[in-house]
Amino acid sequence: MESVIVAIDGPSGTGKSSTSKAVAAELGLSYLDTGAQYRAITWWMLTNGIDVDDPSAIATVCDKPVIESGTDPLAPTISVDGVDASGPIRTREVTSRVSAVSAVPEVRARITELQRTIASAAEKGIVVEGRDIGTTVLPAADVKIFLTASPEARAARRSGELKGKEATDLAATREALIKRDAADSGRKTSPLAKADDAVEVDTTDLTLKQVIECVVALVEEKRASK
Ligand code: DC
Repeated sequence: MESVIVAIDGPSGTGKSSTSKAVAAELGLSYLDTGAQYRAITWWMLTNGIDVDDPSAIATVCDKPVIESGTDPLAPTISVDGVDASGPIRTREVTSRVSAVSAVPEVRARITELQRTIASAAEKGIVVEGRDIGTTVLPAADVKIFLTASPEARAARRSGELKGKEATDLAATREALIKRDAADSGRKTSPLAKADDAVEVDTTDLTLKQVIECVVALVEEKRASK
């Protein structure tokens, strides 16, 4: 079967990660979480004392950390300089700083190149999730999906994920989410955006199973017509 590239974009809390992993696993494709790469570079900046409010300081050092992503959808990994970063990249500190770091054009250029290399090495194809995959990273992707959901649904899902890890309340989660989306949508270089040829799926009233089925059907349809 020919290889297939699937781009899944959208704001946080739309079910992007769960959907992307499940679709990749079901179709035997690789999986890449591009948000984890931006989180990893942010974590490296913070642990190395780089002022993340200073874009030129970020730009100067952003090609230093070695970021590696494991692309098995059943066990995705992320490491920085050989150290497992999967835990530290999910802290509230990294989450609150990642938009600023990922807005720096030099960071985006470097991570985009990494993403393209990973995608072209995936023999059977890959599901790549992010914010600018369909518009900038892989504009020739075979299938492009843009997931959306109401702010309420997104905040509820995010709170559910955080439960037990970091105590949080729904209103604060909603505010933090809206703030991050505004920063990600408003930046100059490859902002969060729907590609003109992407299929928009509003997940507000859909179960995860329904979203997965919908995306799998779109990919299979594309494969059949290839
Ligand atoms: O998907 P996530 O919440 O883990 O992503 C973390 C941040 O990384 C997000 O706020 C914006 C940035 N990001 C990006 O700029 N471009 C991508 N393709 C993926 C994530």
